[in-house]
Amino acid sequence: MIMSENILISPSILSADFADLGAEIRAIDAAGADMIHIDVMDGHYVPNLTIGPMVVKALKPHTDKPFDVHLMIAPADPLIQAFIDAGADYVSIHPDAGPHLHRSLQAIKSGGAKAGLVLNPGTHADVVDPVIDELDLILVMSVNPGFGGQSFITSQLDKIRVLADKIKASGRDIILEVDGGVNPITSQQCIEAGATALVAGSAVFKGAGSYAENIAALRRQSTATSQVA
Ligand code: DX5
Ligand code: ZN
Repeated sequence: MIMSENILISPSILSADFADLGAEIRAIDAAGADMIHIDVMDGHYVPNLTIGPMVVKALKPHTDKPFDVHLMIAPADPLIQAFIDAGADYVSIHPDAGPHLHRSLQAIKSGGAKAGLVLNPGTHADVVDPVIDELDLILVMSVNPGFGGQSFITSQLDKIRVLADKIKASGRDIILEVDGGVNPITSQQCIEAGATALVAGSAVFKGAGSYAENIAALRRQSTATSQVA
């Protein structure tokens, strides 16, 4: 077995202990997390309600790792700047969450954060084409958004491959991140398909080992895989 040290791991605090979020963030930081994935849900775009800018601001002093903020809210525009001011380093939005995608991405960048676009399982990869020059991150949802602990939808692997090719063709430095049902088995499939970052909630916070062991297990690739690569 070898380790893919260059794969970014972004634990989703959706599966952390909400009564002790500061300690949870310090723990995943110490355990080797590269980014902190924060799932923002509005009870409207998705059927769940989670974290607002005040909580993000309160968590920011607990780590120096970048905050990877996933906005599952519609419309997103009225809250983008509030999340950036609270400490979001990456802000990712869904293309169907607001009326003007390009304007929203520009608002993220002019507000001082890096811009991400999120593709639901039912969203076509081509949605990135008109805006790829604005993107720092593409997030492929491998579950339907709204809840942790769902099963990985394997049909999304083909989309990851298509998006990896699009990123290569663009010549731009864009993170290709996968979110939903990522565990030590599906993480290998994502990495083989071209993912460069992995979000994991259950696998990190509710996995069998320590947080450090659970994060390491997501980076691990079999020797056979590495030889193919
Ligand atoms: C789902 C969220 C995910 C979720 C992943 O809407 O975007 O980030 O927390 O949880 P797991 O890793 O448990 O599937
Ligand atoms: Zn997410």
